[in-house]
Amino acid sequence: MTHHRHRIPVAPSLATALAEIELGMDGHTWAAAHVDAARTCLRTAGVALVHSLADRLAADGWAIAALPAELPDESLRRAAAGVLAGVGAPFFSIDGGRGLWLDGLSGPERIPTSFGGFAAQVLHIDAPNVTAPPDYTSLLMLRPDPAGGGHSVLADLRAAALLLTDADRDVLSHPLFFEGRAEQLHGVGEPLLPFPVLEDGPPGCTWIRWAGKLLTDPRNATHLPVLDRFAALLHGTERRVLLRRGNLLVVDQRRAAHGRTALGPQDGVSASARRLLCQAKARFDTDAPAHQVMRSAA
Ligand SMILES: [Fe+2]
Repeated sequence: MTHHRHRIPVAPSLATALAEIELGMDGHTWAAAHVDAARTCLRTAGVALVHSLADRLAADGWAIAALPAELPDESLRRAAAGVLAGVGAPFFSIDGGRGLWLDGLSGPERIPTSFGGFAAQVLHIDAPNVTAPPDYTSLLMLRPDPAGGGHSVLADLRAAALLLTDADRDVLSHPLFFEGRAEQLHGVGEPLLPFPVLEDGPPGCTWIRWAGKLLTDPRNATHLPVLDRFAALLHGTERRVLLRRGNLLVVDQRRAAHGRTALGPQDGVSASARRLLCQAKARFDTDAPAHQVMRSAA
């Protein structure tokens, strides 16, 4: 099911102006001068966009900015970085991209359930196994699956956590859980293994360190029934959306988990026509225009 209220159009004039700003990096973060230029642009020509992003992120924990599909790829990357700067400080956590955006061209050589794979990807937050997971993750669609699959799946972590029994909540609040290895990441603190799935603290400041792969990691076998119950509760909150070319999905990782459905049959799809999705992260930043709007609304 498609949720149109989440898709916020970006005016072509605004997208074109944002696309003038270069993607130069300062280490793993988008260079401050470029972030400032994007925010200046958003504060003048993008006020409506910023308000809509702030509204949707406050209400649901995710939003989609729809950039003009006719812009070339490189312009879409730049304009999407500019939109992301409206929400936080853009950075990359995984090496291997050519700058801010990490490409996930789909292919049979990729692990099927991973970024760029053909199979479904279970609900997760990015980098749950570190001290400072990215506050926001974002996905820019450059080429949807020509076979019609690969829906993005979003789920409400807090709503699911509220439905847990006290006993399950207690187990999940202990640092007992393992997922992945947390190696060679940038801008996300230190590895945190094992970690608690649920963190104590005021709403909005805590993490729900969820990854569907918790269920299949043998290190978590003792607590599998509890993990299964949380996975089922989370599944009950799922929303699906099919990203179109130029759509930028921004996800507040404290609020929402993300995943995807399987791609369609790829037999007749040439390599150069396969789904192409890019990812970048953003760190919370009080100076981001969307947060200024949220504060003034609070
Ligand atoms: Fe992810």
